[in-house]
Amino acid sequence: MRDGKLLQMVNISKYFGRVQALVGVDFDVDYEEIVGLLGDNGAGKSTLVKIITGVFPPDSGEMYFEGQRVHLRSPRDAQRLGIEAVYQEATLVNVMNIARNFFLGREPTRWGFLLDKRRMNRESVEVLSRIGVNICSPRREVSLLSGGERQSICIGRALYFQAKLVIFDEPTAALSVKETEYVLRYIRSLKEKGISVVVITHNIYHIYDIADRFVILDRGHKIGEFTKSEVTPQEIVEVIRSGATVNSKGREGG
Ligand SMILES: Nc1ncnc2c1ncn2[C@@H]1O[C@H](COP(=O)(O)OP(=O)(O)OP(=O)(O)O)[C@@H](O)[C@H]1O
Ligand SMILES: [Mg+2]
Repeated sequence: MRDGKLLQMVNISKYFGRVQALVGVDFDVDYEEIVGLLGDNGAGKSTLVKIITGVFPPDSGEMYFEGQRVHLRSPRDAQRLGIEAVYQEATLVNVMNIARNFFLGREPTRWGFLLDKRRMNRESVEVLSRIGVNICSPRREVSLLSGGERQSICIGRALYFQAKLVIFDEPTAALSVKETEYVLRYIRSLKEKGISVVVITHNIYHIYDIADRFVILDRGHKIGEFTKSEVTPQEIVEVIRSGATVNSKGREGG
């Protein structure tokens, strides 16, 4: 039986010079849970996610994954644990084709050194079509893809490499309504496959339906944490706007 949390971040702090990007933040994610991470510009959302995905370490604090203390030194370390990030743009290399991007850094080889391009083409197309994305050719350069298509490659990759936790940083920010629907549907399908998801967004209305729990940051501090049954989207907007600490019991502070 599974007990404990999939991810636990304990008392995380991170400073950039004099900027307090994160101050003593606790953050956790359960198995098969979708967590919405909300807050205004500069709240510390991306910083927290970059720590979780191994982009940089915290100045202080602890990280536990599946109950084990972990020290990430790179995004590759995070991927090895089963943590994948989906950013709007950053994770794809524009001059490479879809199949290359799909396997980036984890390419299958033949005889240990030759890239197995045929397998890369076949398997990337197969996984993408399984999530409903039909690309005309795996040899197409990704610079030609739309925002939603680019993200679907990252999502397909998370499925293929059997991620346990997938983190989306502003997945819907630059997408059309239709693409937003697709991405939200993918997020839900990840959960159905037993994968936990963290979604960063400015727009509570985009994720309220699909999320199980919400965490709100403000200027580096965690100011709110709610399960969906105890909060309306309007109340979340109000917490973000007022910047006041509100917990699930309705107490107010600083
Ligand atoms: N690499 C960096 N160097 C210096 N300061 C940084 C760096 N990354 C973030 N910051 C600062 O840390 C604070 C938190 O930034 P962060 O990007 O985590 O916020 P965010 O919640 O993701 O905001 P947004 O909604 O605008 O994306 C901000 O004041 C930001 O300017
Ligand atoms: Mg950000």
